[in-house]
Amino acid sequence: MVDETTPINLVARPIPQDTYYIAHGKQRILFFKKIRLLILPIILILLVSYKFHVTRSRNALALLGPSLSLRLYTNNIRFDNFKYPDNYEQPWSKRRVQSINSMEFNTGIGYASVICLQEVLQNQLYDIIRGLNEEEGVRGDGGSFKNEWTYYGVGRTDGVSEGEFAPILYKSRDFFILENTTFWLSETPDVPSRGWDAALERIVTMVTFQSKINPLIKFNVFNTHFDHRGRLARKKSSQLIVDKMKNYNGYPSFLCGDFNTEPDDEPYKILTKSGFKDSRVTIDKKFSYGHKTTFTGFDLKNEPNSIIDYIWSPYFTESVSRERKHGEDKEMNNFYDLDHHLYYKVVLKQFGILSNYFNGFHYSDHRPVVATYEMTRSRLF
Ligand SMILES: *[C@@H]1O[C@H](CO)[C@@H](O)[C@H](O)[C@H]1NC(C)=O
Repeated sequence: MVDETTPINLVARPIPQDTYYIAHGKQRILFFKKIRLLILPIILILLVSYKFHVTRSRNALALLGPSLSLRLYTNNIRFDNFKYPDNYEQPWSKRRVQSINSMEFNTGIGYASVICLQEVLQNQLYDIIRGLNEEEGVRGDGGSFKNEWTYYGVGRTDGVSEGEFAPILYKSRDFFILENTTFWLSETPDVPSRGWDAALERIVTMVTFQSKINPLIKFNVFNTHFDHRGRLARKKSSQLIVDKMKNYNGYPSFLCGDFNTEPDDEPYKILTKSGFKDSRVTIDKKFSYGHKTTFTGFDLKNEPNSIIDYIWSPYFTESVSRERKHGEDKEMNNFYDLDHHLYYKVVLKQFGILSNYFNGFHYSDHRPVVATYEMTRSRLF
């Protein structure tokens, strides 16, 4: 029997030197093996949270990348109407030079540009892509090509090449394309179809862009042309777009087009009520340029002067002089369930309604509308 008072003679037992060292060495190795598994993750967590802290406190741009100067240009270019031209309407072969020049000049330098067009027949689309890709100074046949501009879009009649396109044009050096799709403004949006009381098939073209200069910046551009006859169709079209765009993929969305809708009309109100910001209204007046109205027709003496072409941006868009204040977010009309404003800052820097009349003729019956946004990624997760 061994009780507590009986010393157990362990110490007395001699341990050979080499055994002693081996035993302690093994313990040490085991200890480091265990802790090694923890050290790396701990260092990583410390590093990441430090980075994150710096990011949030100082808004360190290094991690979130540069902001993107995005210029959106929209124009209904008037279809190539050689059969029954309106009074004073010139043929496309004459109109296209100024039409393309306007696009080229207004999307040329310093921007990541996206061009949304309406009423574009396939032959016009090819003319435009060719024209935009011609090297400066070598226009016409035999010009060399940059092959920089490209597009996504389909003809609305058959979903391939027939009928008018609402194409979205961009330079391939500016963006990766994450997604592209077309849907019809009708009860059956997935197939070529005419909706409600519309006179014609109507489509929405959508591209999801990822910036090449800052891959953290991703956004959608929607481009559409509402029916000119159907009052119900225009209302339903607005509602369908709102429903489709809602939480489309978690990225901010822009919407361009010819809506055949004036600011007092119901389809306009459906969009504003859903949080869309009309760039024409959002802009600080000192940063806006050009005409007041967007539709002119071709008869200079009898211009209808209505506002039916728009560029819409996300609900949290700020104007230059009125930046969003902390705590203001809740009052915004945020139709997304996702809080985009936490991840992106979008500031509307410029807005303009450009001229469509030069040298004695209109190159289209609509004026181009342009808006420039500064998009900044404001947070990683
Ligand atoms: C559009 O997306 C499809 C895949 O859904 C792809 O095959 C096609 O190349 C894309 N087109 C453009 C212009 O990016």
